[in-house]
Amino acid sequence: MELQVQVGDIAAWKGDGIIVNLFEGVATPGGATGAVDKALGGLLSKLIVQGDITGKFGRATIVHTLDRLPAARVCVVGLGKENEFTLDRARHAAANGAKALRGAGAKSIATIAEGGAGVGGLDAEGAAQANAEGIILGAWRFRKYHSNPDDVGVLEQVTLLEQDAAKVQAVQAGVSRGKIIADATNLARNLANEPGNTLTPTRLAETARDIAQKYRFEFYVIDRAKARELEMGAFLDVAKGSDEPQAMIVMRYWGAGKDAAPGLGLVGQGITFDSGGISLKPGERMEDMKGDMSGGAAVIAAMQAVGELKPKINITGIVPATENLPSGKAFKPGDILIALSGKTIEVVNTDAEGRLVLADALSYATQTLKLSPVVDAATLTGAMVVALGHHRTGVFSNDKPLTDLLFKIGEETGEKNWAMPMDPEYAELIKSDWADIKNSSGRQAGSISGAWFVRNFVGETPWAHLDIAGSAGLMGDAKENGYQNKWGNGTPTRTFVNLALALANKK
Ligand code: BES
Ligand code: MN
Repeated sequence: MELQVQVGDIAAWKGDGIIVNLFEGVATPGGATGAVDKALGGLLSKLIVQGDITGKFGRATIVHTLDRLPAARVCVVGLGKENEFTLDRARHAAANGAKALRGAGAKSIATIAEGGAGVGGLDAEGAAQANAEGIILGAWRFRKYHSNPDDVGVLEQVTLLEQDAAKVQAVQAGVSRGKIIADATNLARNLANEPGNTLTPTRLAETARDIAQKYRFEFYVIDRAKARELEMGAFLDVAKGSDEPQAMIVMRYWGAGKDAAPGLGLVGQGITFDSGGISLKPGERMEDMKGDMSGGAAVIAAMQAVGELKPKINITGIVPATENLPSGKAFKPGDILIALSGKTIEVVNTDAEGRLVLADALSYATQTLKLSPVVDAATLTGAMVVALGHHRTGVFSNDKPLTDLLFKIGEETGEKNWAMPMDPEYAELIKSDWADIKNSSGRQAGSISGAWFVRNFVGETPWAHLDIAGSAGLMGDAKENGYQNKWGNGTPTRTFVNLALALANKK
């Protein structure tokens, strides 16, 4: 897809389709939508009166212009109620328009770069960014393994139009940033969707290495031999059952220079397939567990955006990658292992493996590399899906300002967060009779005890844990919505990028 910004009037644009927008309850459209309505001899207002077109959020209605406009089709997208409008609604509306036009066979489309701004009180740059993101995210599909990948239509050319030449620079800046961030998110989606037989830990590491080389990051992989040398007992034991080489991927971006603080740590769970191991999962929907590296994918993808955006802050991405499989060599319930930090862990369930690989990755991040703050993302617990469904990520943290910042970023990006409790009483759940802690506590407060397990390995470092088991969209029952696809949606890539930008701007 080619994306470009142009100065111009959408009513005069020639191509397969244009997107205009409408707030709910508006009978006589103004602005660009009004101009298009006028050019069509009042057709849009008539269809609004008839009830064919409404401004309801989520709606996209296509009207054929039959040569009364240079564009062949007009798609009117609903922005919802004016007083409920947000940046994220602009993003969704842009996606709805792009998808509807693509479905109607359009290959070249145009939209208003600032669609939704003004009324929503959005600035030109932010609105343009949201519109670009919405279209790129909305147009994404994973069809590389279909014989006919393009039979559902392809958007070849997207033009974002700005009427006011004085604003073009701001719009261009927003569109460029939006493209970088959406492309990164789509990379995370591609990685999550890629099956376990093609996306092994080795392939994940190669993807990260390609990005690191492109942007001249420092890069290394802690392989099995090196993990043994470092005594990463938890990471090593999870990988024992798999024949695929394990890889703790480390990408270091020195945006503030090596004399500055080590900086932000992003840690992402990289289980490329989670069968549960000896504590084997039931067969139903086990295929979803090819996405158990979604947190790791978001880290790698966010590092790509960091390479493009170059914030003035040091950032290290760490992804402990391995499969979790049963075999004669696999780790077992009852096993006691010694983590990198020296803490001993009783394994009571080999399906609680994500927290084990995170344990060593977090010790490495906080103790070895001295990164601060550190944010991890993991499809850690099924209990998270029960608690918050697919719409919000659970945030577990030892740091209120970091929690608040993540909440704010979530509202802006649409990757919404919700702070979960971490009372010390919950830490009791993972006390073990045989070792310092155990890796599972049974059914109650499963996500909180998982988070407490992880917290054991960050010391006093300001830290937040994002349990994305629901929000990364790995369950088969999530619905497609605007720019959000049904499965493997790239969360929390945009959160990571915005966090990096926010922390860089603070200094
Ligand atoms: N990767 C799963 C959690 C998961 C489930 C993510 C569904 C996305 C969708 C994780 O490794 C796991 O199996 N967790 C166990 C933990 C339990 C054994 C303490 C779970 O949630 O059942
Ligand atoms: Mn598991």
